[in-house]
Amino acid sequence: MSAATTEAGPRLRREFEAIFGYPPLESFRAPGRVNLIGEHTDYNNGFVLPIAIDRAVHVAIGRRAQGRSGARNGVSDAQNGVSDAQGRGTAAPARREESIRIVSDHRDERGERLAGQFTAEELVPGALQGWLSHPAGVVDEIAKTTGTAVGGIDLYIESTVPVGAGLSSSHALEVAVLIALDEVYGLGLDEREKVLLTQRAENDFVGAPTGIVDQAASVMTEAGHALFLDCRDLRTRQIPFDLDAEGLRLLVIDTRVSHSHSESGYGDRRRTCEEAAGILGAESLRELDETVDLGPLTGEQRKRVRHVLSENARVRATVELLEGHGGESRCIRGIGELLLASHDSLAHDYEVSCPELDTAVAAATSGGALGARMIGGGFGGSAIALVDSTRVDRVGEAVVAAFADHGYRAPDIFAVSAGEGAGRID
Ligand code: GLA
Repeated sequence: MSAATTEAGPRLRREFEAIFGYPPLESFRAPGRVNLIGEHTDYNNGFVLPIAIDRAVHVAIGRRAQGRSGARNGVSDAQNGVSDAQGRGTAAPARREESIRIVSDHRDERGERLAGQFTAEELVPGALQGWLSHPAGVVDEIAKTTGTAVGGIDLYIESTVPVGAGLSSSHALEVAVLIALDEVYGLGLDEREKVLLTQRAENDFVGAPTGIVDQAASVMTEAGHALFLDCRDLRTRQIPFDLDAEGLRLLVIDTRVSHSHSESGYGDRRRTCEEAAGILGAESLRELDETVDLGPLTGEQRKRVRHVLSENARVRATVELLEGHGGESRCIRGIGELLLASHDSLAHDYEVSCPELDTAVAAATSGGALGARMIGGGFGGSAIALVDSTRVDRVGEAVVAAFADHGYRAPDIFAVSAGEGAGRID
């Protein structure tokens, strides 16, 4: 696990002490992700190629001494924004000794810090909704996996990963909480165990049937690299991804929309792929390639499978360009076409795009981007655009103008680079 020195360290310690009345033990960070290519392939045991971005969830962790459960300055827990998980207000003192208390720098409509607390024993899947369900899922999985009952813990959380933009802010939160608890309890989990544990927290406790790309990107990626991950056996290769060296920028275009069918759409796609694999006699779509006879499938199944098989091939082709196979020199520029082909396949074969994402990709391309595609689950969230650094403004203006023409809310556009995976903050 790497350690980073950032200005966040002293601030986290200060805030933690101001809130909980004693100094934290340590601080950690876990980044959000952008998947360069390999969308909707992870739960089909396929290939993905994410980068960790230079935006992260930060967490300071402290362990309360016996009997030290009150917050500082004579302020009660409830006044300090620490209510129990169901929002019922301050918990009974005996219970509070065992509780995990979490305070975030994000604020609600009334300007109050988001905060909550729960005990490990009271956790049952589905009992908690919203952001708190992610750290709670991690605590629950730690108990199930290692037999360790987490208790008497305080966490202060800050995040620079935009929420709802499809950059995996909730997975980054899970990873940050897990690596903090792993250190404090000496659990000794390795990277694979961390990835799998946070995925189970998401699948079994939060109840979202997601794959593994988001957690792996946050845990396993090295700075300046993309992570080539085989989701069948979690084998990885770090692929150099130095945008500066080629005078490039990677823009995120956050459409700021999330269409209501995103959750059901994700589950439907996953089911269709599993059914299609069964009909074709395969354990998963990973066992098949583009030469397979899709005849036995329905029209819809055929399109979904075509996307997954062609997307796996595009991930491999992207890796070849980035690594400079066959005597060619490394070339990030060359991946633009593959990004566009990925978007096309996601829009037409997998049908998980939406008008805002299609507009972002088309406008970025007409503004001079080398390639662009939607990222993540789809039906909203963000697209990425690979852009020569001299054209960043032009591409941004083209996207903003196209959104205005369509009457869409203005998008949020910013550059990201390949940051480092999760670790301690010194
Ligand atoms: C979401 C999920 C991931 C992955 C993508 C689509 O981000 O969390 O596991 O399936 O969608 O590639």
